[in-house]
Amino acid sequence: MAIFESGIFQRLYWRFMHKYYAQDLLIDLKLAAKREAIDYIQQHMADALMFKDRDALLAFAVRDTQVPGLILEFGVEKGASLRVLARQAAPRIVHGFDAFLGLPDHWTGTFEQRGKFSMSGKPPDVEANARLHVGWFNDTLPGFLAANAEPIAVLHVDCDIYPSTKTVFDQVGERLQPGATIVFDEYFNYPGWRQHEFKAFQEWIAASGRRYRYLGFATEKGHVAVRMM
Ligand SMILES: C[S@@+](CC[C@H](N)C(=O)[O-])C[C@H]1O[C@@H](n2cnc3c(N)ncnc32)[C@H](O)[C@@H]1O
Repeated sequence: MAIFESGIFQRLYWRFMHKYYAQDLLIDLKLAAKREAIDYIQQHMADALMFKDRDALLAFAVRDTQVPGLILEFGVEKGASLRVLARQAAPRIVHGFDAFLGLPDHWTGTFEQRGKFSMSGKPPDVEANARLHVGWFNDTLPGFLAANAEPIAVLHVDCDIYPSTKTVFDQVGERLQPGATIVFDEYFNYPGWRQHEFKAFQEWIAASGRRYRYLGFATEKGHVAVRMM
C-alpha cells in the first residue's frame, strides 16, 4: 500500500526497528530466559502439573502435602503470599520470616538492588494463624529451630537472592522430610535465574544427596513446586 511507502512510515519503521527494537537488550534477554525455562521444563518437568498463577500453586502445595509438620515462608514483605498460605492451612499455624528491610544484597540478573522490597522494618498485618519472625534469617532461625523440633511439611522460598536462599537450606534442609513440598517464587524464567534460588537449591541437593521430583509450575513468571523424596 502506498501509504506504507510514504516518507513518514518509512521513517517511523526505521526509527522503531533500528533505533529502539534492534538495540533493546532486555526483550531478547527475557525471551532467552523464557526459552531456557521452556527447555528446562521439557527436559526435567514432564510429570509436573501446571497452574495459572502462584496463588493457585501455593494453595495446591498446602492441600496436596500429606505429611504433618511446620509451614514456613522465607520472604514475607507485604504478606500477600503468607495470606494465601495461612488461609489454605487454617487452623494450622504458618510461620513467616523476614527482616522487612528489603533485599540484603543486589539481585543480579534483574533491576532489583539491595534494599528493594523494604518495609522500613515494619511488618504487615497478617492472618490470625500466621506468626512473624522479624529479623535476618541467620539471626532468627537458630532460636526458632531450637524451639520447634518438628519436621517441615511446606516451605515457601521467596527471598530471591542466592545468599538468603543458601542460608535457608543450610539451616532448615535437614528438616525437609520425604513428602515435604517446597515452592520457589523465582526458580527460573528471568535473566539471572541460574544464579539465585535455583542455584542454592541445586547446590543443597548435590551436597546433601537428597532426591526430589517436580510437582508443578505456574505458567506465568517462575513459580515452581518440588516434592522431597
Ligand atoms: C520479594 S519479597 C517477598 C514477597 C512476598 N513473599 C509476597 O509475594 O507476598 C522478598 C523479601 O525477602 C526478604 N529477605 C530477603 N533475604 C532476607 C534475609 N536474609 N533475611 C530476612 N529477610 C530477607 C526481604 O526483606 C523481602 O521482604
